[in-house]
Amino acid sequence: MSLELRGVTVTVPDGDGIRTLLDAVDLAVAPGEVVALTGASGSGKSTLLAVAGLLRRPEAGEVVLAGTPTSGLGGRARTKLRGRTVGVVYQSANLFPSLTAIEQLEVVAHVQGRLDADARRRARGLLADLGLAERAGRLPHHLSGGERQRVGLARALMAEPRVLLADEPTASLDPRLADDVADLLAGQARDRDLATLVVTHDEAPLRHADRRIELDGGALRAVTAAGSTAR
Ligand SMILES: Nc1ncnc2c1ncn2[C@@H]1O[C@H](COP(=O)(O)OP(=O)(O)OP(=O)(O)O)[C@@H](O)[C@H]1O
Ligand SMILES: [Mg+2]
Repeated sequence: MSLELRGVTVTVPDGDGIRTLLDAVDLAVAPGEVVALTGASGSGKSTLLAVAGLLRRPEAGEVVLAGTPTSGLGGRARTKLRGRTVGVVYQSANLFPSLTAIEQLEVVAHVQGRLDADARRRARGLLADLGLAERAGRLPHHLSGGERQRVGLARALMAEPRVLLADEPTASLDPRLADDVADLLAGQARDRDLATLVVTHDEAPLRHADRRIELDGGALRAVTAAGSTAR
């Protein structure tokens, strides 16, 4: 398994008391598997992604990333492991306004101190894989919304992660573009053997997922094709 949550519990302050957002949640996502996560607003989906991506420590439980248990790691080791293993895509691509599409990718290698010829080649290859070869020199405001999301996806893939976490990656797109982006995301995940968890309210990512789970009352449930839920 590339991503495993074992007995993960997260609580948040709620008025005078506390609320259990994630109640001893178990989840395993295999390499190349695309899992869609749904649930009501405020149910804790983004929180679950933050825990899976080591941005937030759970109150209890274990997160295993690419085979490495993380609960015993210090902040620096967690940051390093996150950088090596996790790619993240958000609802809006959050691109740097003054960098071209190719530079958005190159900056990832630059931050890692490895912007060499190989990294530049990889950046070009990724843009080409996502149908953006002709857009490499464009600034974000000269790209369409769908193109920006594809650059965001290419950037998430630049560090060659093992796990891809996407939080409503198609929410800002019209249905046709949403389907293109969801298709590319799932295709890249399978081609690159990435364990992929996609939070979504949209149909497109659900169609392209291998399975679907729902977060409700702090617990995860499998959602069957018919839309009914089962423990
Ligand atoms: N650090 C915190 N302190 C207090 N409350 C928090 C904290 N973090 C998250 N919450 C609360 O936990 C709940 C779940 O938040 P989260 O963002 O995970 O929901 P979500 O399922 O992603 O919702 P949406 O679909 O609207 O994005 C919300 O009610 C939020 O206000
Ligand atoms: Mg959210």
